[in-house]
Amino acid sequence: MNTHCENCNLANLTPDSLRNVIVAKEELSPVLTSLEISAPLIARSAKAGQFVIVYMGEGGERIPLTVSDSDPEKGTVTIIFQKVGKSTLELGTYNVGDVIEGIVGPLGKPTDVEKVGTVVVIGGGVGTAIAMPVAKAFAASGNKLITILGARSKDLVILEDKMREPADEFYVTTDDGSYGRKGLVTDQLKDLLDSQKIDLVFAVGPLPMMKFVCKTTKPYNVPTIVSLDALMIDGTGMCGGCRVTVGGKPMFTCVDGPDFDGQEVDWDELALRKRYYFEEEKEAKEKFLAGGNK
Ligand SMILES: Cc1cc2nc3c(=O)[nH]c(=O)nc-3n(C[C@H](O)[C@H](O)[C@H](O)COP(=O)(O)OP(=O)(O)OC[C@H]3O[C@@H](n4cnc5c(N)ncnc54)[C@H](O)[C@@H]3O)c2cc1C
Ligand code: FES
Repeated sequence: MNTHCENCNLANLTPDSLRNVIVAKEELSPVLTSLEISAPLIARSAKAGQFVIVYMGEGGERIPLTVSDSDPEKGTVTIIFQKVGKSTLELGTYNVGDVIEGIVGPLGKPTDVEKVGTVVVIGGGVGTAIAMPVAKAFAASGNKLITILGARSKDLVILEDKMREPADEFYVTTDDGSYGRKGLVTDQLKDLLDSQKIDLVFAVGPLPMMKFVCKTTKPYNVPTIVSLDALMIDGTGMCGGCRVTVGGKPMFTCVDGPDFDGQEVDWDELALRKRYYFEEEKEAKEKFLAGGNK
């Protein structure tokens, strides 16, 4: 059966094409996996900064993952995830040809990308997968683009070519100095702030990294946007799980974000809320590892 809606330009969609079949899989590092999945409707509308909620079937969690890339022609989206707990470890067992039960999206507001001048886009760890489409979008909008990729060590550096390609200047930092500059992304950022006019910083990565990027830019008064990974359940503004305080006001990361003005985020509250289910998450991971694959 073919469905064709002229208003929405949904030609050539078959029930088969709408199943979320994995069409490519790549292990980017010992802990990072990339999956390209058939999801034609999401591929047509996803913009930089948006995410999907992935559901792997009965008893499974709903996990938010950023659309790292999309190909409207092929009808696929790419997600890149770090295997940190039960659901991401389980997703990592899926292979080419497997079907993911449900993918909802695109969700969240796209990153506000305008021509502002010189933009620094920073990706730390798996945050690089989220930073990558944003970097591409800022370059395409005519900005001078500087990208900084941070990782703990060389084996965790991912997507180097894709962060380098759209950039006018590109830097890598590793905590242990095994690749690029030894140190943190904030060391490189500070040098840039001291040596040229920066108009906007976009940062995504571990919470402490984003917090310290904001501390670094504050004395320079450079607008700093961060992409937050609050705990999410429905992803549509219904459950309140992803509440964050920004500028003293409650916001829902899933519908008001995930991007926010980093200088206004209550980082301590966010860190606390992210740890609410720590014991349950630990138990689920241990059970999954003891029980083997999906
Ligand atoms: C908007 C958004 C985009 C994201 N994009 C990516 C991405 O592109 N790649 C990636 O690797 N990770 C991404 N994350 C984080 C990812 O959702 C979590 O790593 C994942 O849910 C962990 O699930 P788990 O069962 O494997 O681990 P768990 O053991 O359940 O949790 C490990 C940690 O992951 C976080 N987490 C757990 N459940 C959720 C949840 N439902 N929502 C948000 N965070 C959770 C918590 O900090 C938790 O302590 C994103 C999160 C958000 C909110
Ligand atoms: S995830 Fe439920 S309100 Fe945002």
